[in-house]
Amino acid sequence: MTGSFDLRLLYSREDIAAMVRALAARISADYAGKELLVIGVLKGAVVFLADLIRELTIPAEVDFIGLSSYGDGVTTCGEVEVTAFPAASIESRHILVVEDIIDTGLCLDALLKFLAARRPASVRVCALMDKPARRQVKVEVAYSGFTLPDKFVVGYGLDFAQRYRQLPQIYTLEEAPVERQLASDD
Ligand code: IMP
Ligand code: MG
Repeated sequence: MTGSFDLRLLYSREDIAAMVRALAARISADYAGKELLVIGVLKGAVVFLADLIRELTIPAEVDFIGLSSYGDGVTTCGEVEVTAFPAASIESRHILVVEDIIDTGLCLDALLKFLAARRPASVRVCALMDKPARRQVKVEVAYSGFTLPDKFVVGYGLDFAQRYRQLPQIYTLEEAPVERQLASDD
């Protein structure tokens, strides 16, 4: 993507809060009586994770994992590498991976392999958003929030070239009309 962009509101604060509450209720019910280790995927999932854990009614330890993504602001992980390791031990734990969005599935696939090698008791995934039309590898998402068309979204933790993460709502990034781009070039 080049040129200039418009942000178009996709999910409001209220839409997001309702979805976070619904996901947290399902997770709390499913893991009742168990000790959960929530692992957020840096950096995009940080805002979602912060809201999600505050809606859980079960005990949960929180940790993070960092994955490298090669490419520009829009394309996602072609080759995936773990760049920041969780401090907690994974072995014999019930793991909930928290992701902002599942696109090709390549990041999540690599992450699930990384976790499986460390012999957890169980692993499930919670993703706020999913773009199933873009999937390149099959991944199972137990707790899936909004299903999106093939649109690039920003805000609520998600960035475009490290911008827009701090916006409290979720927007689609739309290419600005060509006339306006030309006008703003001079
Ligand atoms: P995947 O490996 O292609 O599924 O990529 C997943 C990661 O790419 C997400 O965790 C995001 O960090 C990033 N990503 C994918 N789609 C978007 C988007 O629409 N906006 C912002 N980041 C995205
Ligand atoms: Mg991410």
